[in-house]
Amino acid sequence: MGYTINIDYAKCVGCGLCANDCPTQHFCIENGKALSQTSLCIGCGHCFAICPNGAISIDEYDSSNVHEVVPFSVFNDEEFLKAIHSRRTIRQFKDKEIEKNKIEKIIDAGRYSPTGANAQDVAFTILGSKQDEAEKICVSLFRFGVNSAKGFVKGIRNINIDDKFFFKGSKLVILVSAKSKLNGGLASAYMEMMAATMGIGTLYSGFFETCFSLSPKLRRLIKLPKDHKLCSCMVLGYPKVKYTRTVPRNKANVREL
Ligand SMILES: Cc1cc2nc3c(=O)[nH]c(=O)nc-3n(C[C@H](O)[C@H](O)[C@H](O)COP(=O)(O)O)c2cc1C
Repeated sequence: MGYTINIDYAKCVGCGLCANDCPTQHFCIENGKALSQTSLCIGCGHCFAICPNGAISIDEYDSSNVHEVVPFSVFNDEEFLKAIHSRRTIRQFKDKEIEKNKIEKIIDAGRYSPTGANAQDVAFTILGSKQDEAEKICVSLFRFGVNSAKGFVKGIRNINIDDKFFFKGSKLVILVSAKSKLNGGLASAYMEMMAATMGIGTLYSGFFETCFSLSPKLRRLIKLPKDHKLCSCMVLGYPKVKYTRTVPRNKANVREL
């Protein structure tokens, strides 16, 4: 997608902040004013964000929701890290719908996650009316797999694939897909944290992803956007459980070369 940068020359003072911050270096300063060669523009909006005089607009975007910058430093670092330690995968959900405005916020957090070259290639598929059917397909696939393996895989005998094995009674399942797995993964992490601020828990269902890769029927039912890979299956809901403390973890595998 091409982007059209407009510069309001009544406001531009030629300070060069846009030129210095542009990742594709497509600005120059001529006769005390910024000039943009938009063919290289990736639409990241840094010029828009950094201009002290609001001289820049980008045609292709609706800028009505742009707001003042709120830096992450408003959060206390110790508390922020403790909140990260305290995040848990949720596998037990209350029988309670997630409000529409909260779903919108979760998706908005995904929309604003970074994407390589600002590709903004992430899509959010809410299973909605197809959730039950999708779960049924997954359940029958897994039951078949588990039953077939029972004879020769130790420890599998006790696994019970009940009707809610995949979505745990959750009322909201969002499939995050993208052309780049990393872009979709980052969006998912942002969404999980956004959800957590509103008391909503997440389960990433790798089991669902396995079914998706194995079942053409499931892929036909859901039909991801063209060229998209499934990056995560986010099962969301209000937790029915409360954790008293954080968990221990292995030491970070840090290498300094
Ligand atoms: C990519 C991914 C796939 C996962 N798939 C499943 C899954 O299919 N079922 C499940 O119960 N938990 C799943 N989990 C949750 C992990 O088991 C969980 O993150 C891990 O045990 C650590 O627990 P914590 O998230 O509470 O720290 C998945 C997590 C990730 C990141």
